[in-house]
Amino acid sequence: MPLNTSYVSKTPDADGLFSYTEEERAVWGLLFERQMAFLTHHACGAYLDGQSLLGLSGGAIPQVREVNTRLGELTGAGVEAVDALIPQEQFSRLLAERRFPMATFIRRREHLDYIEEPDIFHECFGHCPMLTNDAFCRFMERFGALSLELGPEVQERLFRLFWFTVEFGLIREGERLKAFGAGIMSSPAEARHAMGPEAVAEPFDLLTVLRTPYRIDIVQPVYFAIESFEALADTLAGDVADALEAAARLGDLPPRFELAA
Ligand SMILES: [Fe+2]
Repeated sequence: MPLNTSYVSKTPDADGLFSYTEEERAVWGLLFERQMAFLTHHACGAYLDGQSLLGLSGGAIPQVREVNTRLGELTGAGVEAVDALIPQEQFSRLLAERRFPMATFIRRREHLDYIEEPDIFHECFGHCPMLTNDAFCRFMERFGALSLELGPEVQERLFRLFWFTVEFGLIREGERLKAFGAGIMSSPAEARHAMGPEAVAEPFDLLTVLRTPYRIDIVQPVYFAIESFEALADTLAGDVADALEAAARLGDLPPRFELAA
């Protein structure tokens, strides 16, 4: 969570359960219905399968404990409730252990369309369905391990790979492009943009992704489409350190957004 956030982390009770107010449950339900009406046509098969495997619904905000049990049975993945901005090393370590950090607070109605902080709608509705896919988990796990292995100086550039896949990735399904990134799934504004006629989508290429700068506070001016989750996981079997070096040598591609003043 950014340090200037107006949101407060939730604390679980003795049984590990988080409680939510009626208004918070209503916000979850509203977001769920709105996004599903859209995502039924635009989310990839793996995401939609994952959502039903996890039994997510608009009727209840999922509990970390239940999501963990289900993911454990399906892929051995899991989530860990985190209460604030976590250090990069802790983040990478969790991913390397097939676990995803999960904030448990939920956005207020005034932030329905977009919120910079990752809330439980982003983490659980956005990320968790993909954790039911083994190839996706292999990618995430390897990404975490590489991030630990390659050290702090490459993090900024390496994270572009996470950003343009786990957060904003598209996948080709036959003739169509479908979404799997959690930043698209959990944001009505991003979803409309990503699947609209103005969106720019390019085929996924590791070197290009590593050379592509992004901004976190705008809808994405470019998306990358993978061919399959297996192919994505296989990208990390190659020499990523070499690709990072090449990206640094060649420099960034021109930004497709206005630079902050
Ligand atoms: Fe995320």
